[in-house]
Parts: sequence; structure tokens; C-alpha cells
Amino acid sequence: MNNQADKLRQMALDVKNQIEKEMAQEFKHTRVIVIASGKGGVGKSTLALNISLSLCNRGKKVILMDADLGLANIDIMLGLLPKYNLHHMIQGKKNLKDIIISGPGGLSIIAGGSGITELANLGDNSLKKLLVELGKLDGEYDYMMIDTGAGISKNVISFLLSANDIIFVTTPEPTSMTDAYGMVKTIARKSTDKTFYLIVNRVVDNIEGILVAEKFKLVCEKFLNLHINILGYVVNEPLIGEGIKRQSAFIDIFPRSQAAKNINNIASNLISSNDKSFPRDSSGGGIKRFFKKIIGMA
Ligand SMILES: Nc1ncnc2c1ncn2[C@@H]1O[C@H](COP(=O)(O)OP(=O)(O)OP(=O)(O)O)[C@@H](O)[C@H]1O
Ligand SMILES: [Mg+2]
Repeated sequence: MNNQADKLRQMALDVKNQIEKEMAQEFKHTRVIVIASGKGGVGKSTLALNISLSLCNRGKKVILMDADLGLANIDIMLGLLPKYNLHHMIQGKKNLKDIIISGPGGLSIIAGGSGITELANLGDNSLKKLLVELGKLDGEYDYMMIDTGAGISKNVISFLLSANDIIFVTTPEPTSMTDAYGMVKTIARKSTDKTFYLIVNRVVDNIEGILVAEKFKLVCEKFLNLHINILGYVVNEPLIGEGIKRQSAFIDIFPRSQAAKNINNIASNLISSNDKSFPRDSSGGGIKRFFKKIIGMA
């Protein structure tokens, strides 16, 4: 008798656990993070790739999207040759899984290519199809990192306005900081629902890293009434270019270097910032929502 009751109790518990698991999965969205800068050449692509890999090394599932229309440089950095990009998917020539390539450390990479400019001109049916396809990625990955080109082009702005989390990259150079500030200001004026992060790249040492970041943060607080989260800094490391020559990621070749430690620190900070800013409610984030926003459907 007792045995029977135990069995029933266990069954009820299993059902309850299963329902809870499914509910949790239903609300799991991919955290979309866009990397941007005011001035070009400050290290966005280098950081996007290495932070993504560092997240993978921490057990996270990451997809890196190259949305830079100028040069699709993430794949070149790794010596990967993607035959297809978002353009081919939009044209209906390829499926989503055909345009995702495997990078090192379990990292998935997806090239935007000219597909990104085409998004604005798609008809309703193609858009819906695209959203259904891209929506399949939602929840499958923990993070989607999006590397953009520099400056305030229309595309970059629409990416920034669609994301929940934006990482601004600057170097300590005054022109880079001024341009980054201009960019933060533009986005902050147009939207209030974002979390802003800052990385200072190519600093001489940690003192410069902390000083520049704090200064930037203070200026944003004082003049824009905006809180910017300092994610960290990365020292100037001439060997970072070496990674590209060897077509591997820097943190994999020089894991003990100061710059690799800085990058790992940034990845950890990003993960711990999760609790505060993510997950949001079911409508707040995710890949599908991100693309819906870009094409003006959300
Ligand atoms: N911490 C660093 N130390 C030394 N060199 C660096 C560092 N970070 C990036 N670089 C170098 O700076 C150059 C520009 O980097 P990267 O291409 O990542 O910048 P970007 O912001 O993506 O440029 P773009 O705006 O053209 O897309 C590269 O040669 C790269 O190796
Ligand atoms: Mg770049």
C-alpha cells in the first residue's frame, strides 16, 4: 500500500518537474549583445571574437554574427571561408543551418553580408519566413554577439536600437572617446530601455584602464544622466595581431598574457551582469525580438 502511494507521489513529482522544466525553457531567450564604437579600428572585431571564445570556454553557447558591411573580417580573422551568408538565406537559396559555420571552441559564426541591408526592403511574407527561421536560434544559444562596423550609419543605429545590451568600445585616445561619447548620446536620446557597457581597449596598464573608464562613466552620468557599466579594459598587446596572422584567436594562442586575462575578466563580468539585466520578461529579449525590432515589427 505504502509502496503504491510512494509511486504515485513520485509520478506526481516527475510531472511537476517536467512542467517546470518546459516552462523555464519557454522563457529562455538568447541574450543579444551588440558591439559598437564611434571611431573605427578600435578593436571591436578583435574583442567580439575573443570575448565570444572566452564565453565558450566558460561553458556558454555563443553565436557570433558579423554585421560589418565593410569587410566581413571575423571569418577572415579565423581563416574560415563562409560560402553563404544572410543574403543567401533571404534569397531563399540556403537554410539557416547552411549559413552557420563552426569556429574554434564550439563557437558558431554567422555572416550577415549584404543580407543586412536587404532586411529593410523585404516584403511581408519573406520577413515572416526569415523571422521564423531566425527565431529558431532563440534559446538555443546563451549569447548572440553582434559585431558592427564603426560609426553612425543607418544600419548600425538600427542594430543598436534593437539590442537590449550594447558594448561600446573606445581606446584612451581623445578622438576615440569623443566619438564613442557621441554614439552613446545618439542612442541614449532615442531609447531608454538599454543597458550600456564600456570597454577601454589598448590601455598602457590597469591604472590607465580604470581612469579612462571612470572618466567616461562620470561624463555620461553628468551630461546624459546615463549609467554606463564598466565591463573592463584590455591592455595594448602587439601580439594580438599575431593571432590574426596565424588565423587563430588570440586568447587561445596566448592564454597567459595580460590581454587574455583582461578579456577573460570581461567575459566573467558579462556573465555576472546577466542576473541584473537578464532574463527579462518573456517579451523583453531574444533573437526573434531583436530582428523584429530591426525590421520595425515590434
Ligand atoms: N588590445 C590591443 N592591442 C594591440 N592591438 C590591438 C588591440 N586590439 C585590437 N588591436 C589591433 O587593432 C587593429 C584594429 O582592430 P579591429 O579590426 O578589431 O578593430 P575594429 O574596431 O573591428 O575595426 P573596424 O572599425 O574597421 O571594424 C587590428 O590590427 C588589431 O590587431
Ligand atoms: Mg571590425
